[in-house]
Amino acid sequence: MFEHVEPFGGDPILSLNEDFQKDPRPHKINLSIGIYFDDAGAIPVLDSVRRAEAMVVARNAPKPYLPIEGAANFREQVQLLLFGAGHPALAEKRVATIQSVGSSGGLKVGADFIARWLPGSEVWVSDPSWENHRSMFEGAGLAVHSYPYYDAASGALAFDAMCDALRRIPAKSVVLVHACCHNPTGVDLTHAQWNALIPLFAERELLPYLDLAYQGFGDGIEEDAYAVRTLAAARGKDGRPMSFVVANSFSKSMSLYGERCGALSVACADAAEAVNVLGQLKFTVRRNYSSPPIHGGQIVAAVLGEAALRPLWEGELGAMRDRIRAMREALHATLLKKMPGRDFGYFLSQRGMFSYTGLDPKQVDRLREEFAVYLVRSGRLCIAGLNTGNVEATGLAMAAVLDG
Ligand code: LMR
Repeated sequence: MFEHVEPFGGDPILSLNEDFQKDPRPHKINLSIGIYFDDAGAIPVLDSVRRAEAMVVARNAPKPYLPIEGAANFREQVQLLLFGAGHPALAEKRVATIQSVGSSGGLKVGADFIARWLPGSEVWVSDPSWENHRSMFEGAGLAVHSYPYYDAASGALAFDAMCDALRRIPAKSVVLVHACCHNPTGVDLTHAQWNALIPLFAERELLPYLDLAYQGFGDGIEEDAYAVRTLAAARGKDGRPMSFVVANSFSKSMSLYGERCGALSVACADAAEAVNVLGQLKFTVRRNYSSPPIHGGQIVAAVLGEAALRPLWEGELGAMRDRIRAMREALHATLLKKMPGRDFGYFLSQRGMFSYTGLDPKQVDRLREEFAVYLVRSGRLCIAGLNTGNVEATGLAMAAVLDG
């Protein structure tokens, strides 16, 4: 029956992380997977999360099936976090939100929804993008293409080339854009660039699909939601509110990776449309995994909704963001000391957990084999894996590899 089944080639990120766990070298450094480690190299349990979990456990509540769309308090808090309290899109009830199994689960439910209801549409992802984007949309049966995004020569955003490409793709194409902290490059759109891009989406009748997995790791919780809030206030070519999709995650921002807490929101033209869209998202979920799990979502809802916990979480997220910035500066300083003639300024201008180093796969392999420093083969380095104990060794290893 299964003789013909081919072996799985492994995942470029998750398999590397598994290889790292098996590496016996004590000085090994994991800069591969997008996980925030603290200065001691541990995945933190946030104080706000610990207290929220204690509250949830103390309720001693039964564990029925959640509604297909997830818990009402979780979904409400997600909408407030993404769109901001008082946003007209929420007041007008034109956003359909479901609790999802991580933002990956949300991305895939959204992809299935698009395949069913916009069957002629094809998807465009940035070049480069998170390795799994293409695979997920293709897995939903959609054709996936890429648009220019990163200019390797300058290390900056290829904004003009990106807009030129988007001007030429068919109407109703789906355009996957990272709302902040672009994975893998760390190169983001400025607010001014978003302001220029959104009318282009409207004029060309494109469907923006935002991936917001790192809210709070760029410039701040509110600042990183700029794309969501601006799109939600924009009008389409027909003068009606613009439609778009956003998948968001709490894996990183609450250090809740394994709880798989995320959401998918679809902003619609009006409330009646949002009712139908929510219904079809529910149908998609029911056919896949029926309904999401309770526990993690209730922790998230408590962190976001309890007055005593929210400021604590915001402070903890701010501290993670600041530590990442400090590590960017430390790595930059080490490299500059070793290679003074070279421009490493991109480490300082990029945002979020990741830096695109420009190292080629051979150099990345050398880093792993000779120095036990693990990066994704695209040259992506997870800054959040650096700490005061390993940043210098990382800089020295990178300099050795760059030197040839
Ligand atoms: C990453 O990009 O490393 C993370 O988002 C983890 C993953 O699932 O790939």
